[in-house]
Amino acid sequence: MLHTVEHPLIAEELTKLRNPECPSPEFRQRVRRIASMMVPAVTANLETTVVSCTTPLEITSGVKVTRGIILVPVLRAGLGFLDGFLDLIPQASIAHIGVARNEKTLVPEPYYLKHPPVLGEHEIIILDPMLATGGSAIEAVRSLKEAGARHVRFACLVASPEGVNALENAFPDLAIYTACLDRCLNDRGYILPGLGDAGDRLFGTCG
Ligand code: PRP
Ligand code: URA
Repeated sequence: MLHTVEHPLIAEELTKLRNPECPSPEFRQRVRRIASMMVPAVTANLETTVVSCTTPLEITSGVKVTRGIILVPVLRAGLGFLDGFLDLIPQASIAHIGVARNEKTLVPEPYYLKHPPVLGEHEIIILDPMLATGGSAIEAVRSLKEAGARHVRFACLVASPEGVNALENAFPDLAIYTACLDRCLNDRGYILPGLGDAGDRLFGTCG
């Protein structure tokens, strides 16, 4: 289930992000803004519970999001996507998962996982700006489910059709949110037109 989050302000930010001259501080700010603008769409169908609500004048009914939210940035680049989500969901807990794509084989190599003790009762939102071959996302979803996660969704900034297909085939019920579905992968597994290496651009580690 792919949801493309379309909005003129997101499209404009993304256009500026694609520019290789965009320096890291600006790149980080733009990724953060896009992430924030995606939050309403990514969370639109969260289950809610009716609760009692006391105003200064009377008692009425209000709403509570039924399950707690855990945001899971995929290290490293997912960290760049995290702050924009936290700006709108400050009450979320944060789990970290480390998955590095082997740049020769394109195989994801997991190296870290730290999460709250109970995952099954929470809404899990996995964050990674790039969904390329889909290997890293599949590994992230797989290991969180293995750890007990049940309500999982995945949010990215740019996706390739190949990555979306792979992730959908692996997890047909997973909701995938992206700000843009790009054209294809190149022969090195980079998204076209894409952003280049998002982690390097976020953290200033480009050669
Ligand atoms: C990038 C990106 C995704 C992954 C996508 O991370 O942030 O995690 O590649 O590629 P895939 O869909 O083909 O697996 P990378 O492994 O380069 O690590 P980084 O975040 O530390 O730069
Ligand atoms: N990782 C990135 O950062 N960019 C891509 O295009 C593919 C994988």
